[in-house]
Amino acid sequence: MDGNFIVIEGIDGSGTTTQTRLLCKWLEKQNKEFIRTQEPVKEDLHIGKVIKEHLLQDNDNHSPESIALAFAADRLVHLEDRIVPALEEGKIVVSDRYYHSSMVYQPEHGADLKWVREINKYARKPDATIIVDVPAEESVKRQQERDGGKSSIIFENPEFQSKIRQRYIDLEEILDENIYIVDGTRSIEEVHEDIVKIVKEVEQ
Ligand code: TMP
Repeated sequence: MDGNFIVIEGIDGSGTTTQTRLLCKWLEKQNKEFIRTQEPVKEDLHIGKVIKEHLLQDNDNHSPESIALAFAADRLVHLEDRIVPALEEGKIVVSDRYYHSSMVYQPEHGADLKWVREINKYARKPDATIIVDVPAEESVKRQQERDGGKSSIIFENPEFQSKIRQRYIDLEEILDENIYIVDGTRSIEEVHEDIVKIVKEVEQ
């Protein structure tokens, strides 16, 4: 039987990476077989380079559509190379971001949401998607503390983050899948405990 596929999502600075790491530590303690992964895939492929330039807003002269396609291609390759083989071996896969990120960020940059959904239609549905929800101001504060202002202006812009947050909340209505929204303003440990509860529920 295939393993469970768990995705952790949220606006920038919401703590998806911290929560992915903690969940994997917990899985390790439970002696579960799992892999931890993330999107965009951090490899030095051409697609990766285009994505990196977009995120750093360095030489970012690509259209929202080509960026959306780059993320979608990165994702399908990621699925074929890592996610599906691990699931087929019965392992739990925990991914820090997945197509939900494309469905909130790329439309905010101008790509058509329906089309972004369409180009991601071959990407397998997760068994659970956990959105770590924090207000935009909190996201910006955390990013500034973390990067010391090195991040690009757009990602530290509360208006941008607040629109992204709303788009995440709307996904629950748009997508016919298991989406859980957890309050990310509490302590790291409390958020982690909620995530563990969800993962246990999904495993039953
Ligand atoms: P992170 O590595 O800190 O999670 O940042 C990844 C950034 O990439 C984040 O701002 C969201 C963005 N992103 C997209 O715009 N579209 C996507 O499909 C994915 C996976 C990420």
